[in-house]
Amino acid sequence: MALIQLDAVIKTYEMGETTVKALRGTDLTIDEGEFIAIMGPSGSGKSTLMNMIGALDKPTDGNVTVEDQDIGELTRSELAVLRSRIVGFVFQQFNLISTMTAMENVALPMLFRGVSRKERHDRAKKLLDRVELGDRYTHTPQELSGGQQQRVSIARALANDPDIVLADEPTGNLDTDTGDRVMDLLTELNEDGKTIIMVTHDPHDAEYADRIVEIQDGVIKNGDES
Ligand SMILES: Nc1ncnc2c1ncn2[C@@H]1O[C@H](COP(=O)(O)OP(=O)(O)O)[C@@H](O)[C@H]1O
Ligand SMILES: [Mg+2]
Repeated sequence: MALIQLDAVIKTYEMGETTVKALRGTDLTIDEGEFIAIMGPSGSGKSTLMNMIGALDKPTDGNVTVEDQDIGELTRSELAVLRSRIVGFVFQQFNLISTMTAMENVALPMLFRGVSRKERHDRAKKLLDRVELGDRYTHTPQELSGGQQQRVSIARALANDPDIVLADEPTGNLDTDTGDRVMDLLTELNEDGKTIIMVTHDPHDAEYADRIVEIQDGVIKNGDES
């Protein structure tokens, strides 16, 4: 049984009078432990696809199944539980909270899951150590470089020990060396058993993946090949 399965997924956005077809019949199968790179032109539906896989949004038609759960059948609160339990997100813009320290940012997803204060802090420290920011616990995002901020956001993505890490252009705002460090970290997580799904424009980054999925105009061209 696949970890993630998309069958004939259609996603449309209503924009006043017009309808935008972001995904138009997308099929994709992802097995546990894969490291996937999703590539395609701007506007081709990559982020929309990530939102479906990450249970951030429901399909307009078709089926999305994540760990045996049919996303379309879940309520908003069930989707939130699924997300916080099994998915970690990494974004191009880091999306850290600017008024919080690195540790507080990493601890935040645990707060939403009711983890005790002590355990939140212990675990946040461990995760920051893991991404080699053990000397930056109390720094705020503006006191960190872009690469460091992205590593904080990877630590935050790991807060609830997810099975799946979704990274949408994680190196898009980083220089090559800093980006390579982020890619090495994603590779290590994959070696530890996490399923990694990454959107990238960069063929060099895509080489870190086991498999490249190409999307164009909301249709995946090679979703069921391995
Ligand atoms: N929330 C939204 N509302 C309306 N249109 C959207 C929304 N999100 C994405 N779109 C449109 O859907 C299409 C696919 O967008 P997106 O998934 O962001 O593509 P990509 O990540 O590949 O650049 C684009 O035409 C985009 O303008
Ligand atoms: Mg995008």
